[in-house]
Amino acid sequence: MSEVLFELTRDHLETGLRGVPVGYCPTSKVDPVEGLFYGGYPISELSEKEPEEIIFLLLNRELPNPSQLSEFKEELISHSKLPLGVIEGLRALPKDGHPMKWFVAGLNLMGMFAPGTSYKDEAIRVIAQMPEMVAAIYRIRAGWGEPRQSKPELGYMENFVQMLDSPDAKPGLVRLMKVFDILHFDHGGGNLSTFIGKAVASGHEDIYGSLIGAMSGLAGPLHGMANQECLRFLKRALVVVKDPTDEDAIRAYIQKLWDNKDKLFGFGHAVLRVEDPRATVQYELGQEIAGDNELFKMALSMRKLGVEFLSTQEKVSNPFPNVDAVSGSLLTAEGLTDETYYTVLFGLSRCVGIAAQIVYEREEARGGKGTPIIRPKYLYSGPKR
Ligand code: MLT
Repeated sequence: MSEVLFELTRDHLETGLRGVPVGYCPTSKVDPVEGLFYGGYPISELSEKEPEEIIFLLLNRELPNPSQLSEFKEELISHSKLPLGVIEGLRALPKDGHPMKWFVAGLNLMGMFAPGTSYKDEAIRVIAQMPEMVAAIYRIRAGWGEPRQSKPELGYMENFVQMLDSPDAKPGLVRLMKVFDILHFDHGGGNLSTFIGKAVASGHEDIYGSLIGAMSGLAGPLHGMANQECLRFLKRALVVVKDPTDEDAIRAYIQKLWDNKDKLFGFGHAVLRVEDPRATVQYELGQEIAGDNELFKMALSMRKLGVEFLSTQEKVSNPFPNVDAVSGSLLTAEGLTDETYYTVLFGLSRCVGIAAQIVYEREEARGGKGTPIIRPKYLYSGPKR
């Protein structure tokens, strides 16, 4: 008899499968209290490593030794050339389309111009080429000018930042983007975008099509687009309160939002019951690189006063900040000021973890047989004849 892991009752239905185990995730774990782990390491120990090391960890479940790391960097570099057709395709897109729609279109073009030979091969290609694709989205859509030449030998995120060539970039942007990238790579197996990506791949669609599904899931404001909405929330608060250190004014603002049934963005999480450790890492980094920024100061005040307020509300199960509460203020402080692109930056990172999980499910699970096509059961609740 197989071990019973979970007693399913009717109360679990129509609740977004909360807490219902549906598979194994070998890349990362989210514990409600201890937070996020990649390959068994707490995220706080990994956030200042090289992104390439953590990509290797997610794909191989071990941190690389120095020779494995340099070999892996070479592998990424050798697959990093984005086909010209992808850039040409992006040029045809409407400038007022949301950047996430561009990102999904870009993945679709990559799938047509650069198909691979296996899930692992496509995972490496998509990981290696996405920075150039996202930098091109920024430059073409934002009107910053022609896409810049890729120089992958600079390093994964160093090259991304030089290809972005943001007109307002500050000196801390490379460091921030490396940390941002690592923090967003993976978040267990059951977050919406990852679950969708694996579900699409379970029908044996390729990595590109699977990531297109995943990124459409990420584009929703309850998932990845929450980072865009959080920055707008901080901006609105700053307009009303003016001084981000005026605690009395912020308390009154929060109370008013609550009374009006308006949302306080950046708090709570489906799994976590403590401050998201990815937020903690960013608050600490922000003290170093963005201490003078008004939006970061507002994020810090919300960290204190939002928690203070929400903790007194009976129905709130998790009053603590999540990853999105602060990321936008740091991106703004380092010169990426347009929040409509933030979910794309999240997606650039999250596709790595999703690709790693797809490779596991398609090529490694069940002794290499792979997991079967996803096909859950829905109970009929329509009319009886
Ligand atoms: C994520 O990083 O995917 C979000 O925190 C959402 C989640 O884990 O469900």
